[in-house]
Amino acid sequence: MIRRIAETTSTNDDARGASYRHGDILWAERQTAGRGQRGHGWTSGEGMNLTFSLVWEPRFLAVREQFTLLQAVALGLADAFDAQGIDCRIKWTNDIYVGDRKLVGILIEHILAGERLARSIVGIGINVNQMDFDPSLPNPTSMARETGREYDRAEVLERVAQCLDGRYRQLERGEADRLRADYRRRIYRLDAPQRFRVPATGEAFTGIIRDVAPSGELVVEHPDGRRCGYLFRQIEFIVGKR
Ligand code: BTN
Repeated sequence: MIRRIAETTSTNDDARGASYRHGDILWAERQTAGRGQRGHGWTSGEGMNLTFSLVWEPRFLAVREQFTLLQAVALGLADAFDAQGIDCRIKWTNDIYVGDRKLVGILIEHILAGERLARSIVGIGINVNQMDFDPSLPNPTSMARETGREYDRAEVLERVAQCLDGRYRQLERGEADRLRADYRRRIYRLDAPQRFRVPATGEAFTGIIRDVAPSGELVVEHPDGRRCGYLFRQIEFIVGKR
């Protein structure tokens, strides 16, 4: 079921409600307190984009396997953009990029039942038809900017929902290796020099992404050849400088 509403604070908050079950999507035209990763907000041009939350109930997954779910989400979106002729990459952990510009933001929040994932609220913001962005945003793009055409947002959402469902089924079938391999092939800046910063120390360095471990750690090769694994928040991309 896709439910479309005019306004809410954040679809990720509403989708926690008991009336939303596995596979349901809540799409809001306007969020008054849209949330992004790392405590940031998420703003979106009204009537131009998609801001929605999908509910999954992946009780078969252990909490320690949550990165596999994140991979399924990113790949489902990438599949949907492939179908539109938009060649995208997954910027670890789960931004969708076209070239060096961000097309989609994803915020996944879990509700746990002991060691298992009871519910995952998959919040997704896709820039669809917006052409001009607030200059304070670092590097946004949209589907329309990439292709020069306007999209029917409901159709885009239908396609995205189908593709996400396809990847969820792989998750259910236990095809973690396939998801991991597909995710690896899609990694933004894989095998290419990239500037990074370690927030804890302020250290900046040029490294090369070699892989993403099953735990979700980004495996980066340092200039001296050492390979180090970094968890979310332990390393940041310095975008725009190589
Ligand atoms: C990010 O890149 O920082 C993640 C952005 C996630 C935005 C979406 S829009 C729908 C859902 N509701 C929210 O409040 N956030 C997510």
